Amino acid sequence: MAQLPILHYPDPRLETVAQPILSVDDEVRRLAADMAETMYEAPGIGLAATQVDVHRQLIVIDVSESRDQLLTFINPKIVAASEEIASYEEGCLSVPGIFDEVERPARVTVEALGLDGKPFTLEADGLLAVCIQHEMDHLRGVVFVEHLSRLKRTRILAKLRKQQRAM
Ligand code: NI
Repeated sequence: MAQLPILHYPDPRLETVAQPILSVDDEVRRLAADMAETMYEAPGIGLAATQVDVHRQLIVIDVSESRDQLLTFINPKIVAASEEIASYEEGCLSVPGIFDEVERPARVTVEALGLDGKPFTLEADGLLAVCIQHEMDHLRGVVFVEHLSRLKRTRILAKLRKQQRAM
């Protein structure tokens, strides 16, 4: 396994739309393992392939306290979303040090393929629902700050530029 470098907002490669995975083979499983290692080391609770500059529909998530409940979603699709909206303070490994409230459907049902290539359906609420929607946004080239106001985005970009100058 290997850790992969994570792209940082506003890198334009984060705007790339990911392509579906046609065959769940050893290469895909190796990518998923490397992404999981990268997520745990960061540490983070979710990572989309887009963030490691691989533009294929693959995300890994672990929202457990014990850090041993790894979920892998290949070609995920949201097939149902609640009308109820929930607000959650989100962060992102591609936007270090920035946290802000984003509103999303409180519950979603997602269909995806697992690492065995078999389809599964998962109903999620709470943090897991937030995380699934956040990571699926990455696959369509959207970073969570795009959900914020223009004013907030401008402030975030200024703060990130300052951070990068200090590095
Ligand atoms: Ni993110």
